[in-house]
Amino acid sequence: MRQYLNLKKLIAITSIFALVFSFSMCSEKEQANSSTVKMSIDLDQPGPEINRHIFGQFAEHLGFGIYGGIWVGPESEIPNTRGIRNDVVEALKALKVPNVRWPGGCFADQYHWRDGIGTPEERKSKINVSWGGTPEPNTFGTHEFFDFINMIGSEAFISANVGSGTVQSSADWLEYLTATGSSLAEERARNGHPEPYDVAFWGIGNEVWGCGGPFTAAEYITELKKFATFTNNYNPNVNTQFVAVGPDSFDEYSFGYSEAIMEAWSKKTWTWDIQGLSLHKYTRGGWPAVIPATGFDELQYAAMIKETLGMDQFIVDNSTIMDKYDPDKKVSILVDEWGTWYAPTEGTNPGFLQQQNSQRDVIVAALNFNIFARHAERVHGANIAQMINVLQAMIFTEGEKMVLTPTYHAFRMYVPFQDAIRLPINFDKGKYKAGNIDLPRVDAIAAKGKDGNIYVAITNIDPNNPASVDLEFTGHSILSVNGETLYASSIDAINTFEQPNNVSPKTIKANVSGSNISVAVQPQSVTVLAIAVKN
Ligand code: AHR
Repeated sequence: MRQYLNLKKLIAITSIFALVFSFSMCSEKEQANSSTVKMSIDLDQPGPEINRHIFGQFAEHLGFGIYGGIWVGPESEIPNTRGIRNDVVEALKALKVPNVRWPGGCFADQYHWRDGIGTPEERKSKINVSWGGTPEPNTFGTHEFFDFINMIGSEAFISANVGSGTVQSSADWLEYLTATGSSLAEERARNGHPEPYDVAFWGIGNEVWGCGGPFTAAEYITELKKFATFTNNYNPNVNTQFVAVGPDSFDEYSFGYSEAIMEAWSKKTWTWDIQGLSLHKYTRGGWPAVIPATGFDELQYAAMIKETLGMDQFIVDNSTIMDKYDPDKKVSILVDEWGTWYAPTEGTNPGFLQQQNSQRDVIVAALNFNIFARHAERVHGANIAQMINVLQAMIFTEGEKMVLTPTYHAFRMYVPFQDAIRLPINFDKGKYKAGNIDLPRVDAIAAKGKDGNIYVAITNIDPNNPASVDLEFTGHSILSVNGETLYASSIDAINTFEQPNNVSPKTIKANVSGSNISVAVQPQSVTVLAIAVKN
């Protein structure tokens, strides 16, 4: 009997042990996968403004970026206003695009603005040497560009030609655009625009260490001083910001540019100044770009996300250099080219940089927005490459057809972060592992929008597991919460002309209890919540 009791005890102890053991195994697994992520947001410690210009776009004369994408000409059967596609304009209005960088890119340093003004007969046709050697009719020029950005409610970021242009042509172009009462201003009026244009940003060259030069940093600084001294904005309503070329994260030739330019800037004379330093950083998995835009596996996804997160270190490295010469942060960083760069779509001209756009691009976009917002003290602008039909585009067109890409929706969902006040948000990023690639599981930013609401953007990087997120707003009760989520059942899901809404935002439900919100987010998703709080 005693033996039997001991046996019973042993069995009982063993099963309790097994139960406890299996419970702890299970909770460890859950911990790694779907445990609750607690985020606390401090409404009482407002940070810097998230400059709306970090949501800027880039439209280059490249492939179907301008011709076919924006410009179809007034005679086209595709509905247009003065040659500019109505469908594209309507779609872009919803993004509140703060600025459009134009005409390049590499194209900028081969662009001569006089070729693109005047009557149709006066336009010069050229060869687009940078991109595919295709004809460049110059039917879309200065006036058409300003007409376009005016239609979408955006500001101008002009990249001037340093590589093959002269200081005089740069000076003349900005005078043509902004002056009153000069011969160039009269010429502008004759060409249909008596009022001066507003030019928000003026890029002094593009990638001058590469396609726009090539110059060493010292050679560029000599050019920079001349271009910055003699190019003037004459429009008193606008403080045009001059942007110097900085480094690209991949190019050894641009190494040292930030240091050299900032040192030169710290010793500048009264004749010249810059307000911005450009950085370029793509997510492209090496060079040449061979990573497929669709049909990739989880490891390829994770590798691209890891590379995207490298944007943070790139900004930190350059900010550290800038802080040495400019502790007051008078010179901004403008990441005026970023985005994914994959292998070109099969059957397209490789010089046209056409690629598909998937749910992976949504995650890449959101992570970059978050990084820019976290560096809001120094990063005052960024331009995704590019707006239409090129690289990580917002929109694809084909003849009269148009489709919005997953990236378009990410930009639309982040609109409330434009000029919002960043708020501290604390959370454990967790872990997501693919092969030997270690990544955070979630990312998030919070801000107080211009409408007084609090906005929280949550990215679930993990493609395999949902996440329960608990948001805490200590000391503030929640009045209401609305949200949208951008989720697709596969990480390489795309929108097509036939299935345009495959990847599109859906309403998401969140639960409120006092000063807490709980929400369940899908794997590989981006969610933006709009929260009304009681002050
Ligand atoms: O966006 C495509 C190209 O990438 C740009 O023209 C150039 O500046 C960069 O190398």
